[in-house]
Amino acid sequence: MVFKKVWCVLALGFLLPFSCAHTDFFTSIGHMTDLINTEKDLVVSLKDYIKAEESKLEQIKKWAEKLDQLTDTATKDPEGFLGHPVNAFKLMKRLNTEWGELESLVLKDMSDGFISNMTIQRQFFPNDEDQTGAAKALLRLQDTYNLDTDTLSRGNLPDPEHQRANGNMKYFEYIMAKEKEANKSSTDSEDQQEKETEVKKKDYLPERRKYEMLCRGEGLKMTPRRQKRLFCRYYDGNRNPRYILGPVKQEDEWDKPRIVRFLDIISDEEIETVKELAKPRLSRATVHDPETGKLTTAHYRVSKSAWLSGYESPVVSRINTRIQDLTGLDVSTAEELQVANYGVGGQYEPHFDFARKDEPDAFKELGTGNRIATWLFYMSDVSAGGATVFPEVGASVWPRKGTAVFWYNLFPSGEGDYSTRHAACPVLVGNKWVSNKWLHERGQEFRRPCTLSELD
Ligand code: OGA
Ligand code: FE2
Repeated sequence: MVFKKVWCVLALGFLLPFSCAHTDFFTSIGHMTDLINTEKDLVVSLKDYIKAEESKLEQIKKWAEKLDQLTDTATKDPEGFLGHPVNAFKLMKRLNTEWGELESLVLKDMSDGFISNMTIQRQFFPNDEDQTGAAKALLRLQDTYNLDTDTLSRGNLPDPEHQRANGNMKYFEYIMAKEKEANKSSTDSEDQQEKETEVKKKDYLPERRKYEMLCRGEGLKMTPRRQKRLFCRYYDGNRNPRYILGPVKQEDEWDKPRIVRFLDIISDEEIETVKELAKPRLSRATVHDPETGKLTTAHYRVSKSAWLSGYESPVVSRINTRIQDLTGLDVSTAEELQVANYGVGGQYEPHFDFARKDEPDAFKELGTGNRIATWLFYMSDVSAGGATVFPEVGASVWPRKGTAVFWYNLFPSGEGDYSTRHAACPVLVGNKWVSNKWLHERGQEFRRPCTLSELD
């Protein structure tokens, strides 16, 4: 945090005057914990200010009481009072110096410490954009999980009694009303648009519905006949020497596309290391803009992510080797390990991991072909929400710390498997950490007939 602040101050001063302002706090819990600490520091400083103000008032009160008594006595018998030379001298002294000192005390500003603390901390505060983002995240949660505003504000959030939470709810309700209004008018204008758009929209709605249902755990249930063909087993990576003596637990999550889950596949210590390596580098995840081909942030992908290379830590390198051993796929052509952190409301709407025919250049610069398969570690449990769902086929995969899921995105022919379209559901309560490895086509030419595809 100290480092971040130093960097921020430097950047503020010299390099990127606006870079610290838009930090997208709501996308990640990591940055939000910094805010909690900032607020705690501010409370301490505010209390110091109150103490200083109280002690100042105390001094003033004492003076007033003393003078009250004195003037009482003096006014009762002014001549007698002044007949005492010390009294006469003291009156001179009071009026000439002491009242002046008191005036300075009254004027003294006790708020300096607190105000300068505020000024420093304010640079790290969320801005309007962050606040709107947080309100939108609540909207998303409400939509996806069918929550009414009352439920959200009263029942199911971690600290519903919290004053500020209630204050924010007012704002949230206001944003919600505005958003509904905006949706209404955009629907109106869309009515006038071409039929093609209409068709697209109709196609989109059912997927959205399915996605939301799956996120709520109301997934289309698999027929018992199909379910019976899902197994769990000990897996040795196709007789990989590293796993023959200690095979790993593997469960079938789905049949078509085949999705398997590996259990106890990453230890708590490894998870901590990966998280610590990633934390300082987490930044808002980006997506390819199909129009410009450039990377941009998008509302449909709200999380923070970082890339870790196998060269920087033996733990990352060990993890890469594990993926290679258990998938039978060459990881030398894979992308680096991506670590992602989803805060409350964080999500990734339905997408394909592979590049479609109409965007053949997406991974061109990598020179390693398309994303043949996806390996996804769950590095946390999630209290509510945050499932990985496959709306085309109706599968929901729930995060379980220490496990990983794996699927092929491409058929052996190299064609994309459109049934692998998937999404990361918004986190409702808690904090979701995952890391993924996208394996590419190159290097797999003689490896592809691996156990996973045999059952297809
Ligand atoms: C992704 C992805 C799913 C998840 O990052 O491409 O689909 O559950 N993630 O985080
Ligand atoms: Fe994905």
